[in-house]
Amino acid sequence: CASSLPARLSSSSYSRHLNPPFLVSSLARSPRWTERRRLAKWRSMGSTRLEKVVFALNGGRYEVAGADVHPGTTLLEFIRTRTPFTGTKLGCGEGGCGACVVLIATYNPTKDEVTEFSASSCLTLLYNINLCSVITTEGLGNTKDGFHSIQKRMSGFHASQCGFCTPGMCMSIFTSLANADKSKKPQPQKGFSKLTVSEAEKAFSGNMCRCTGYRPIVDACKSFASDVDLEDLGLNVFWKKGDKHADVSKLPDYTLGGGVCTFPDFLKSEIKSSLHHLNDDSDVTVSREGWYHPKSIEQYYDLLNSGLFSDCTVKVVVANTSSGVKGYKDQDLYNKYIDIGDIPELSAICKKDGGIEIGAATPISKTIEILEQEAGSKSSPNGSVVFRKLAEHMSKVATPFVRNTASIGGNIILAQKYPFPSDIVTILLGAASTVRLQVYSETLEVTLEEFLEQPPSDPSTLLLSIFIPHWASDSQKESKVIFETYRAAPRPLGNAVSYINSAMLGHVSQKSCGDLVLSNLHMAFGAYGTEHAIRATKVEQHLNGEVLTPSVVLDAVRLLRETIVPMEGTSHAEYRISVAVAFLFSFLSPFAKGIKGPGKTASIGYASSSDTDDPCNLPLSSRRDTVSSDDHKPVGEPIKKYAVELQASGEAVYVDDIPAPKNCLYGEFIYSTQPLAYVKNIKFKPSLASEKVLTVVSAKDIPSGGQNIGSSFMFGDEPLFGSPVAEYAGQALGVVIAETQRYANLAGKQVVVEYDTKDLKPPILTVEQAVQNNSYFEVPPGKYPKQVGDFSKGMAEADHKILSTEVKLASQYYFYMETQTALAIPDEDNTIVVYSSSQYPELAQSVIARCLGIPFSNVRVITRRVGGGFGGKAFRSYTVATAAALCAFKLRRPVRMYLNRSTDMIMIGGRHPIKAYYTVGFKSNGRITALHLDILINAGISPDASPLMPDTMMSGLKKYNWGALSFDIKVCKTNNTSKSVMRAPGDTQGSFIAEAIIEHVASVLKLDANTVRQKNFHTYDSLVQFYPESAGEASTYTLHSIFNRLLTTSSYLHRAESIKHFNNCNKWRKRGISCAPLIFKVAPRPAPGRVSVLNDGSIVVEVGGIEVGQGLWTKVQQMTVFALGQLWPDGSEYLLDRVRLLQADTLNLIQGGLTAGSTSSESSCAATLEACNMLVERLKPVMKKLKQQSGGAVSWDALIAQAITDNVNLSSSAYWVPGQESSTYLNYGAAISEVEIDVLTGAITLLRSDLVYDCGKSLNPAVDLGQIEGSFIQGIGFFINEEHETNADGLVVSDSTWVYKIPSVDTIPKQFNVEVLNTGYHKNRVLSSKG
Ligand SMILES: Cc1cc2nc3c(=O)[nH]c(=O)nc-3n(C[C@H](O)[C@H](O)[C@H](O)COP(=O)(O)OP(=O)(O)OC[C@H]3O[C@@H](n4cnc5c(N)ncnc54)[C@H](O)[C@@H]3O)c2cc1C
Ligand code: FES
Ligand code: FES
Repeated sequence: CASSLPARLSSSSYSRHLNPPFLVSSLARSPRWTERRRLAKWRSMGSTRLEKVVFALNGGRYEVAGADVHPGTTLLEFIRTRTPFTGTKLGCGEGGCGACVVLIATYNPTKDEVTEFSASSCLTLLYNINLCSVITTEGLGNTKDGFHSIQKRMSGFHASQCGFCTPGMCMSIFTSLANADKSKKPQPQKGFSKLTVSEAEKAFSGNMCRCTGYRPIVDACKSFASDVDLEDLGLNVFWKKGDKHADVSKLPDYTLGGGVCTFPDFLKSEIKSSLHHLNDDSDVTVSREGWYHPKSIEQYYDLLNSGLFSDCTVKVVVANTSSGVKGYKDQDLYNKYIDIGDIPELSAICKKDGGIEIGAATPISKTIEILEQEAGSKSSPNGSVVFRKLAEHMSKVATPFVRNTASIGGNIILAQKYPFPSDIVTILLGAASTVRLQVYSETLEVTLEEFLEQPPSDPSTLLLSIFIPHWASDSQKESKVIFETYRAAPRPLGNAVSYINSAMLGHVSQKSCGDLVLSNLHMAFGAYGTEHAIRATKVEQHLNGEVLTPSVVLDAVRLLRETIVPMEGTSHAEYRISVAVAFLFSFLSPFAKGIKGPGKTASIGYASSSDTDDPCNLPLSSRRDTVSSDDHKPVGEPIKKYAVELQASGEAVYVDDIPAPKNCLYGEFIYSTQPLAYVKNIKFKPSLASEKVLTVVSAKDIPSGGQNIGSSFMFGDEPLFGSPVAEYAGQALGVVIAETQRYANLAGKQVVVEYDTKDLKPPILTVEQAVQNNSYFEVPPGKYPKQVGDFSKGMAEADHKILSTEVKLASQYYFYMETQTALAIPDEDNTIVVYSSSQYPELAQSVIARCLGIPFSNVRVITRRVGGGFGGKAFRSYTVATAAALCAFKLRRPVRMYLNRSTDMIMIGGRHPIKAYYTVGFKSNGRITALHLDILINAGISPDASPLMPDTMMSGLKKYNWGALSFDIKVCKTNNTSKSVMRAPGDTQGSFIAEAIIEHVASVLKLDANTVRQKNFHTYDSLVQFYPESAGEASTYTLHSIFNRLLTTSSYLHRAESIKHFNNCNKWRKRGISCAPLIFKVAPRPAPGRVSVLNDGSIVVEVGGIEVGQGLWTKVQQMTVFALGQLWPDGSEYLLDRVRLLQADTLNLIQGGLTAGSTSSESSCAATLEACNMLVERLKPVMKKLKQQSGGAVSWDALIAQAITDNVNLSSSAYWVPGQESSTYLNYGAAISEVEIDVLTGAITLLRSDLVYDCGKSLNPAVDLGQIEGSFIQGIGFFINEEHETNADGLVVSDSTWVYKIPSVDTIPKQFNVEVLNTGYHKNRVLSSKG
């Protein structure tokens, strides 16, 4: 099919480079330019300029005039800033998280057919949805119209914690259900969808959740599946454990198809009746900005020639998803957009004798469908292998909500223009595809390989289509087609670009002697740090026609290693090369003589290796055991989360959902990229975005009497701005102010900072440099942990010693779904209100007040709920709140800051990186006698809470009896972002170091690590020695029993044996199993609470603790009802719905304190209990009086009515302070995980994890279970997936969802069993619970 390359394209000698924004004035012009231009301008204007966008949003009609909305406005920005809907969230702005997923429906008037698909609204441009219908989660259900079954099931299966991901999850699930129900599959049983369980597990792939660990979301989604066994689903509110029948009638009703009108009739009628008039406005005046949508190739070139774009920046788009791609995102604004998606040639699908031609604007999802159909069609029996594999591979590209709009042509152009790690180009190259191009009036057909070699294309080149040939087996030569594609990526099922990918095509035939030979090989490799995908031609030539003996294969490997050379600076370069070899080996081994490879041994009939035994394809299963307790009902019951339906329907209000006040401005940080330098000057590049800068606020704007302070804790302050010296890369230098958040963000990218390092010492970036320079934070003596026993004596008793061995841990980024945000509104008399997403509003108030130089009483900080915190919104939230407050104070206008994901990742810091050296002595039986540690903690620039790290680290490490324990811990001050508390700070690292030592000892002694673990478990006496203040009573030390129980319930010994067998039988895949105990010391802090009963009997509760997704409000709600119910013998569970939790307000309820450390729920519950008890005491006489009068039962309403008449004070406040005995205590847990690793690619699959955790008498087992599962998966992220990397200057380079991969639903354990133990009575706890 391919024609040879025309000279004009092939003779180019210029090198590849990144294109600047396209300036049409720079296009080559013909001699008859002026005349053509006049004609073209006339032709193009009326017919291609879109003057208004008409669409439906949740059934309502929206008409937006072009002049009103900049063409670069995304659908998400429009929904969030111009409509009342708040459910569609901004989590990343790059297609990588799913928070913004909406359903888009299109209507075909000819077929009277509606097509629905999910899409990421953060990448979809508003103008692209002209005549479409959009549904957000509010359109599924809401408070007014009733919640949708999906929203109710998400709530009832405890599948929402902070709730920030939940609307996007609901939309992905809804779209999957709606599309499954449209299919021709058999009618399911009433109440179910046609979706299957395996489809349900993938229904929301690509949607990220940082809180839940995904398991309950999978359950909620599976509950719709036609083939689900409801008994297999986890804890929910619809049926109780032990109920005989988990029956669909108990679930919220589901109507086949989803029961939502996705395309309103008015829009259908409008499309039918007036489609041709809608945008036909002949009175067009050419404005500076605009959206053009040519309907033909001719119109497109007319537009280019029209001169309309002289000196304008123009963006040519199909779906605009490339604006989410790292490295190629928009850096500046564009004036004009040309949407080429409506050009018919770009959407045509043409089945030809030799193959199939697919229009370049065809979305990837549609391409997958076409390829699947072709693979199954009779017309292409021999093409099926290639098409099926291409479709399979494409279904791992990006996410469903990106694939549904992203075009294959856009992907190819991206890869042709830039070094983009495309999958699509590699696999199409492997399938020997060709492309059809249009360059002005010329149409060209070239091979994809040739196209990739050309200079980066510009808008004068249109990619029309891609032709994929049929690959037929040759029956005469008895050769069969073989085709395989491969990708190694951080996530198995997508939403992660490849480290390397490959596609290999060829024929295999059998010689008369029986040997197999390969021929016609096409071997493509891409994404390994190459400018574009390449053919490994030397390897192909070497292998063509050869019998694959070991030496031939070895030579092929050598040639491949010479071919795959990653560009300078490519991360994991050696890994990528070795995986390329692994791919080649996997492809060749079934045909090779005398090599046992990872694939099946092939016969001549072998077409492709089977991956059915790939552990990634295992179904997900789980067991969730909890024990509810009846003693303090409803405390102890697994009730659903407070306000959870509001989270699902998007009506729950987070900071960025608060409507922008009049005159609101928006801010974006300017940050340093240098670790230590004077900031001489801040300028902006000349650009469209720079024109949007209203002002820059910096340290010089801090009012007199105020301080340059942006964070603070008991160990010291941290400046808000680096001034005059920037002290670390990522430090705020100022705030750019603009009229919208997008303008501010883009303007922030135009900043050029002039630095000067004269007279400054070199920065201290590593812990080693900190040691050399004696750069440490002081740890107050009372905070430094105590050594245990006599180390020298312990070492003297040892039979073996391991000396000074290094173990190190990297940092971890919080990745809360809602980034740091604040809205500051100046008020009268030098006061200010700041809405902050903060885990510590009380301290935010003081930092803001000190910065502004005003009394604390002038600052009201309000926090309703936080979209995930994990410690990152404790001390790190103040910078944003204070910066917004300063800007608002200076400008006397409201200022909002919602950090974009990249800025958040670069500036906010994260978990402490640690380097430790251990020296350990032990007996031959595995008993450890002494341990010494030298630990260096990289704390970054400010003390934050880092001086607490030695204690928490040692606390986690002391879970074993080390005999004697000594240590030297240095908290290093370096020129890096300040590291702060992150989920179990210190404990996580301490526990890891402990396990590393145990494993090391076991390997020296050649003992099973579990034997060594158990040998070193604490006795109660040693527990008291290691945890003198918190060990509690002997009866509460449950770790032994937990561990033994886990060994039994998880069949550890049996599985350990099976694993040995598996490993003996498998060369290329290995399994391992490991157990880890946990001791976690908690220290409840004082907390305030206020309970007020209003005249109608409704109850409002205010507590110090913040709802960050951990279910604090739910537990407080339960506690309130239990406590007030003490007036009735049967309690007052019916009051649950009458309790309302109020947002934290620092001028209303003072001393709110810090929400962290797993104890804020219990502290807030304790304060609530005390406040309620006071009310109960006041109500008792009223109750007595009423009982005497009526002689019967007294209702709550009657009681309150009487109390009001009797002038009883119905509001009570308490400040709970933990008693001496309950100031610290220990929590116990244990986990066993079984993991499989693909030795060739390094891919890891978590086959099974079993967890047991002792929650005392859990206040709400569903909530606690959710916390346990979620934190376990966050831990998996830390140890397996997440790489929080910096460059040589300490600037974070893991700054997007592209490079920072938190666990997704496809990376959680295939089998996940969690048990929450109820270990009975703990007299010093709040109602016997544990944090
Ligand atoms: C979150 C996310 C994950 C992703 N993961 C992967 C992945 O794992 N593997 C992978 O291969 N890709 C991945 N991609 C890339 C994705 O496939 C591309 O962004 C997409 O295909 C581009 O198509 P588009 O229609 O959105 O192009 P647009 O963004 O509209 O355009 C991209 C560029 O191509 C030009 N262009 C588009 N069509 C044509 C045409 N027909 N002729 C001439 N020029 C044209 C445009 O002018 C623009 O310069 C991912 C993208 C995202 C956002
Ligand atoms: S905000 Fe759109 S995918 Fe993250
Ligand atoms: S509940 Fe999913 S991110 Fe918080």
